[in-house]
Amino acid sequence: MIPMEGGAQASTTTYSAMKETMLSPRFYTTDHEAMNAVDVSSVQAEWDYVIGELRADYNKGHFQRSPEFDQVSLDDMPEGLREEFKDFLVSSLTAEFSGCVLYAELKKRMTNPDVRELFALMARDESRHAGFINESLKGLGIGIDMGFLARSKKYTYFAPKFIFYATYLSEKIGYARYITIFRHLERNPQYRIHPIFKWFEQWCNDEFRHGEAFAVLMRSDPKLLEGRNRLWIRFFLIAVYATMYVRDHMRPHFHKAMGLDPDDYDRRVISLTSEISKQVFPFTIDTDHPAFWRGLDRLAKIGQTNEAEGKPKTLAARLRRMGRTTVAVATFARLYTLPVKRHALPATVRLQPVW
Ligand SMILES: [Fe+2]
Ligand SMILES: [Fe+2]
Repeated sequence: MIPMEGGAQASTTTYSAMKETMLSPRFYTTDHEAMNAVDVSSVQAEWDYVIGELRADYNKGHFQRSPEFDQVSLDDMPEGLREEFKDFLVSSLTAEFSGCVLYAELKKRMTNPDVRELFALMARDESRHAGFINESLKGLGIGIDMGFLARSKKYTYFAPKFIFYATYLSEKIGYARYITIFRHLERNPQYRIHPIFKWFEQWCNDEFRHGEAFAVLMRSDPKLLEGRNRLWIRFFLIAVYATMYVRDHMRPHFHKAMGLDPDDYDRRVISLTSEISKQVFPFTIDTDHPAFWRGLDRLAKIGQTNEAEGKPKTLAARLRRMGRTTVAVATFARLYTLPVKRHALPATVRLQPVW
């Protein structure tokens, strides 16, 4: 246990879920009035379809743990893997729970019946997802107090359009990650280090549906996809891809145990997300451009060096870190200015999760 201010106690795992770094999943809040003003009438048929799918609640009975969950022990894992697997579960839980808190809060504040219902349905799913990961953590003896997490986490304010760009991408990249892992383990079951991965196929369809809802919301207001907003879309694309790339490259033991090469895995996930995002964004990052992957590799190396050196204690170490931060910012800027691939938006938004 770690003592917290005010005498409260938090388990070490809750504490690590609370750590704020550039790469950790964040908690968000937004302008409720602006969100309430959303009008989906221009995309009514597609909206009705997406809401209908969410109402059908295909995964109602899916998230039930099996006795297999009690047969895995962290003690059986080598130390490097143990830490990274815990980190994988905790950051996945935080991401799911952060969606849950945001959607539940929006549901509470919305009077617009369309968005109110959407956020209620998505909060339902994310709460199940977070709860299911927490069941896995409890099976390993390290469950997280999610109520405590919600009360103590710091919240970042995002205008509704930024919530749309960021959440759309995080839902679709979540789908791409879960389905890529599921298909890989389907072919190579010897690498399944925990039963939770068996749940990923139906699970990822929830994330796909959530992404569809945000795609329809964005298409309901064409201004969100034009003019200066394109610069924001480009920013979010690079930020989401780079964050995932850097974070995954900090978990070498986890990926090795799963039989995954992080370069290859992340390339597949980013390429798939990029392909899917053509449903709503008028351009994609050119993932065939070698400078794009070179930039991501450079950022990943900086992340690894920072992690290995830990908190700088000497002046020399602080200067080295500042130097790396400058290189990281310049690398991000270079990625941001790489040419993009423009394309026309499809007549209908909706996609099927066929991957
Ligand atoms: Fe989720
Ligand atoms: Fe989701």
